[in-house]
Amino acid sequence: MVNTSVTLCGLPMDNPIIPASGTFGFGYEFADWYDINLLGTFSFKGTTREPRYGNPTPRIAETASGMLNSVGLQNPGVHAVIAEELPRLKKVFHKPVMANVSGFSEEDYVYTCQLLDKEPQVGWLEVNISCPNVHNGGMSFGTLPESAMAITKAVKAVTTKPVIMKLSPNVTDIASIAKACEEGGADGISLINTLMGMRLDLKKRKPLLANVTGGMSGPAVFPVALRMVWQVYNAVSIPIVGLGGVSSAEDVIEMMLAGATAVQVGAANLVDPYACKTILEDLPRVMEQLKIDSLSEIIGGAH
Ligand code: FUM
Repeated sequence: MVNTSVTLCGLPMDNPIIPASGTFGFGYEFADWYDINLLGTFSFKGTTREPRYGNPTPRIAETASGMLNSVGLQNPGVHAVIAEELPRLKKVFHKPVMANVSGFSEEDYVYTCQLLDKEPQVGWLEVNISCPNVHNGGMSFGTLPESAMAITKAVKAVTTKPVIMKLSPNVTDIASIAKACEEGGADGISLINTLMGMRLDLKKRKPLLANVTGGMSGPAVFPVALRMVWQVYNAVSIPIVGLGGVSSAEDVIEMMLAGATAVQVGAANLVDPYACKTILEDLPRVMEQLKIDSLSEIIGGAH
């Protein structure tokens, strides 16, 4: 019998599998498909201080072995998440959830994180300083060590739960950003968010996405994500949540060997709502094939 349990920033998890923010709604939508309590946890849709309708459509485009999205942080706002989404979730999910938070100013992050930190259902705060699809916020905080550290410090000053900073791959030196977050007091790092890209409609000779650019995810980005997890593992001593193109149990193990303590699955959920369930079912067999008794023992094992 293999052991899939891990501990992420002090919280035990039955397994390291976490559906990524923006690909799993507020969880209960997937509870009609399978028992979502099988998951380690999941990261809910990026939540902001105010409700947001998101970007104009089209917001999605296909790419080879991946996709582009430019959703623009559509969400009902933190007050509705607390009043409506979390109570709905409570009926079907009985584990701590990861609260994904976005903002357009330091005050936004502080406001939203402070409120979600008080919710008993929330286990971790995943602070998204890496959304490439909004102007004047999102990724702009995550591309410089100074601003990444400032947001980390500000959020840590008003919260008690583990703070995981979600980083952008659209930088030249990911290790310096991760280190700045660690110095700012972060309890963990998650990476990578999506890679900025675009596609054209050949007949119209115009961008396919209304926002022109979008964030690329899916299997094509896996090697980029793995490389960054590897680099960040060498740079920090806080836990890493690895994501980017993960779509199989083998990918999960590769991410963990590179340095991830837990692994998020994103675009794969949009292709197949059972993607995480299938990965969880495959994991024990793949672990046995690779002679892995315990997942927590392989973290960073390839270094
Ligand atoms: O556009 C979006 O809602 C995506 C968010 C993100 O990638 O962080």
